[in-house]
Formats: sequence, C-alpha cells, structure tokens
Amino acid sequence: MPIVTTSSFNLKLAASILLNNKNVAFPTETVYGLGGNALSDEAVKNIYKLKGRPLYNPLIVHFKNLDMVLDYFDLNHVELTIAKNFWPGPLTLILNKHKANSPKISSLCYGNHTSLGVRVPGHPIAQHLLNTTNLPIAAPSANASNQLSPTLPSHVLSSLPYDDLLILNNNKPNLGLESTIIEVIDGKINILRYGSLNLNKLTKLGLDIVNSDNENQQNSPKAPGNLSKHYSPKTKLRLNASNVNNNEALLAFGEIPQNLSQAKVILNLSPSGNIEEAAHNLFAMLWELDNLASLHNKHNPLYFNSIAVMEIPTNNYLGVAINDRLKRASSK
Ligand code: TXA
Ligand code: MG
Repeated sequence: MPIVTTSSFNLKLAASILLNNKNVAFPTETVYGLGGNALSDEAVKNIYKLKGRPLYNPLIVHFKNLDMVLDYFDLNHVELTIAKNFWPGPLTLILNKHKANSPKISSLCYGNHTSLGVRVPGHPIAQHLLNTTNLPIAAPSANASNQLSPTLPSHVLSSLPYDDLLILNNNKPNLGLESTIIEVIDGKINILRYGSLNLNKLTKLGLDIVNSDNENQQNSPKAPGNLSKHYSPKTKLRLNASNVNNNEALLAFGEIPQNLSQAKVILNLSPSGNIEEAAHNLFAMLWELDNLASLHNKHNPLYFNSIAVMEIPTNNYLGVAINDRLKRASSK
C-alpha cells in the first residue's frame, strides 16, 4: 500500500483509516506528519509505537481551524492575537491543560506534560483530512524517533517501513522545516523551537519575544524533543567547514569557494544563497546524502563517510532554525 496519490478515493480511504483510530502519514506545509485521532488512546498509542518515541515526549495536535481549537482550549488575548495572525500556518502554540475545557483529548498526547502543542496547518491535504474527519489529529513528524524529519513520502517510507501504513503523496512544495513552537508566558513569547514561521511578522505585532536563544535549552529543554541529539542523519556532519577532507561530501550554501569545490559529491542548499530555498532543501539533502553514503564502499571513488557543511548565516530566523537543526544533527 504505502505511498499513494491524493485521488479522491485515497483521501476518503485516509479519512476512514483515521476515523477507525488507525494511522496515516500526510503532508503539511512544514514536514510530513504521522497522524492519528487525538481523541483515541489506541490511535495515539500506536503513533508512539510506530515511531519508537518515548511516551514522555508529547505530541502536537492539529485542528481544522481556530474555532475548533476554542472548543477545546481557552486562549488568552496574546495567544489569540498570535493564532489569528498565523493560523493556518507553521505555528505550534503550547497551551496549558488547565485551560482545556474538554477532557476528550487523549492524555497520551500530553506525554508527561501539563500542556499541549496545538497547531492549525494550512496544507490543503492536511486541511482536507481535518475537515472530512472533523477530528483533532495528533501528528508528530513522520520519522522514527531521533531521525531526520521527512519532507518527501520516500523519507517517510524509509524511516517507517510498515507495509500497512498509508503515506499520502504531497502535491505542493513544502517549507522544509518544522513549525515554530511558541509558549506565551506572562504575556511574552517564548520560542521553544525555531522553525518555518516568519518571526519578522511576529515582531511586527509588537509582542515581546524572550528567551529566544534556545541554546541554553539543549540539555534540559522545555520541548523534550529538543534534546541535543536529534534530527540525526546516519552520516557524520562537520559544520562551518572551510575545507573538505578526502572522505567527505559537501553540503554547500551559496557560491562554492575553489578549495571546497574539490569534494567528490556536492549538494547545494541554495546556489544563489537564498535562505528560504535552503530551508526547503535542508532535510531532503541530508536524507539524500545519507542514502548516497550508504551506496558506496571504501573502494568506490564516490565513497564518503562524513559531510562537510558550509557556514550558513544566522542573520535571519530561518538561518537560526537551519543552524539549530544542523547542530543537533552533528551532535554525537
Ligand atoms: O511542523 C511540525 O511541527 C510537524 C508537523 C507534522 O506538524 N510536527 C512536528 O512534531 O514536528 P514533532 O513531534 O516531531 O515535534 C514536536 C516537538 C517535540 O520536540 C516535542 O517535544 C515538542 O514539540 N512538544 C510537543 N508538545 C509539547 C509541550 N506540551 N510542551 C513542550 N514541548 C512540546
Ligand atoms: Mg520530530
């Protein structure tokens, strides 16, 4: 079964699988999600099982719109302002359980937390599933725990190779990085994970952003999935490379200096140095390099066992998010 087109037949099939408390992998505008009915312990438990995810690491629950979120949670005025401006979109809001006016969301979604990550995605397929099932859908990224997030159906298949898992093919380019996770504390915005949300637009709302440096959260992160070892390719990464070694491929950004152009395998996140393009390509190119690395043995001229990554500027929220993912991907 696994990867199927988004024909109306397959979309109906996907909706009925979700309504039967089983799981489906579907595209969002950020990365692929592994979805299940958030009201069903059975569906949610199986998400943890398929991913091999520890039960303490909470899930993001997706809703069709803000109105439906408001059926489940009370939002304060700052949360409402953010939600109205950025939903549907690549934003996850952490909402407190004590603000939940419905106990129906499976407690398993919360991990061992007292808050829930809530998101309204804009992708038409995600929207279609949310609207036709009329369910809140729990969906972490559709990869085995600690692996790279998937941006293509083939990534989902290689990370979660289950014969009976339906994977809906994407029909739109995605942003490539996960949603930005925000928690509002004392009226101020705490960024728990940098991601695809345009922070410049957030700043324009005149809201205070605090604690936006999540470096110090690497070891005791508020978002437990933000442990420093995360998003890992199998192949070793070396960051901010100014040279390439014999057994290294190059992950480039922008114009490639002469000495780096010697690398035997080169993928360029964005030849023109466009940060949106780089964000879109990041996981896909890491997946691809990982695949290439596994193809060749030591005697093959294209053999490499490490990836040198050129410096990527952090003067923009996407640059920060990309460097965050690379740092985790390179940690041992
Ligand atoms: O773009 C995305 O956010 C994708 C798409 C599928 O929606 N989802 C995603 O989910 O990236 P996941 O589970 O791979 O990453 C969610 C992160 C994890 O690091 C988790 O620890 C954190 O969000 N998280 C979830 N609920 C939380 C909570 N209540 N408090 C703090 N962190 C939370
Ligand atoms: Mg993930």
